[in-house]
Amino acid sequence: MQAVILVGGQATRLRPLATNTPKAMVPVLNRPFLEYVIRNLSRHDVREIVLAQHHLAGPIEEHLGDGSRFGVSIAYVVEDSPRGTAGAFKNVEKHITDTFIGMNGDIFNDLDITAMLRFHREKNATATIALTPVEDPTAYGLIETDTTGLVKRFLEKPSPSEVTTNMINAGTYVLEPEVLGQIPSDVQVSIERETFPLLVSSGKPVYAFSSSGYWMDMGTPDKYLQLHRDLLAGRSTWYVPGTDAEVLIGEGCSIDPSAEIIGPVMIDDNCTIDPYVRIVGPVVIGTGCVIGEGSDIEDSVIWHNVRLGSRVKLESSVVADNCTLNDNSVIEGGVLGDHVTVSAGASLGPGSMIELGETVG
Ligand code: GTP
Repeated sequence: MQAVILVGGQATRLRPLATNTPKAMVPVLNRPFLEYVIRNLSRHDVREIVLAQHHLAGPIEEHLGDGSRFGVSIAYVVEDSPRGTAGAFKNVEKHITDTFIGMNGDIFNDLDITAMLRFHREKNATATIALTPVEDPTAYGLIETDTTGLVKRFLEKPSPSEVTTNMINAGTYVLEPEVLGQIPSDVQVSIERETFPLLVSSGKPVYAFSSSGYWMDMGTPDKYLQLHRDLLAGRSTWYVPGTDAEVLIGEGCSIDPSAEIIGPVMIDDNCTIDPYVRIVGPVVIGTGCVIGEGSDIEDSVIWHNVRLGSRVKLESSVVADNCTLNDNSVIEGGVLGDHVTVSAGASLGPGSMIELGETVG
């Protein structure tokens, strides 16, 4: 079985976290996000993966290599200009030999791909779109079906009075190669807004497969933080905590006995936690971080090689690689890109987005 994963988007909404880290490589519980996607495909017997790339292509191939570590083979195809979500599938057409899985590379889910494939074959579908329920569907594109799952209508960002379903496109598809024949070459085309509506209007059997498993579109820093809260609370099958308040400490860490750590907390290798530090989960800390004396961290994700001085307060925030937060600084609801420095005593409030390399305060 083959899969094509789209990982070439600009990820503008995930800035400053995705300014120089591809969205697919952003760490989730200290592992690059794309590893989870590939593991899910691998556990459903997908053996050949094509990564459709454009923006920030290099680091993905450097990390994943030929894919053998995950029991798959990976081919990389880089677009010379962004082709959009359908054009990117068209651009890898020469790699496709049969029915394939096509998916956005920024969705974290527990989708049962085997069951979806079975459904697709039973229905003799040209395309099958995974659906997931959301609380407020007005921000999304809705998909209306009949009782057999046959897609009848697409409704983009409907007003509340138009909402007839809370099921939205979950960003994973089973596609027959003939779908690629409907997509023009060398231009930007959207599969959601152009290709699927075209298939439906020309009478092709496009079906929807509903899934109620965990689903998160990791497109914004808020959703990225929420994903960590959900995973540490055991809401997905990808991380099953031993207890409600599990504390996991990696190798080579030095934790002062006076530090108070209340789970769920995950601390990666080679971190130093100084005296009187207080960490209240959900919190994830990457490798090689130093948390200075008396600092207080709550509901936050810290990437690798981050240094907190003394008495720093960090709450509901995300801090990317190699940042330095100096003594007595306070960050509440902030998002810091790589190599940011926060001056001693500075205070950042909710919604603060600090770009790569800036010094604030
Ligand atoms: P925003 O700029 O924040 O909207 O993010 P994005 O660029 O990732 O766009 P969006 O969330 O709509 O993309 C959904 C998925 O399609 C992501 O996995 C993107 O990487 C991917 N994607 C979007 N546009 C392209 C493209 O032109 N080429 C390729 N190869 N992938 C794309």
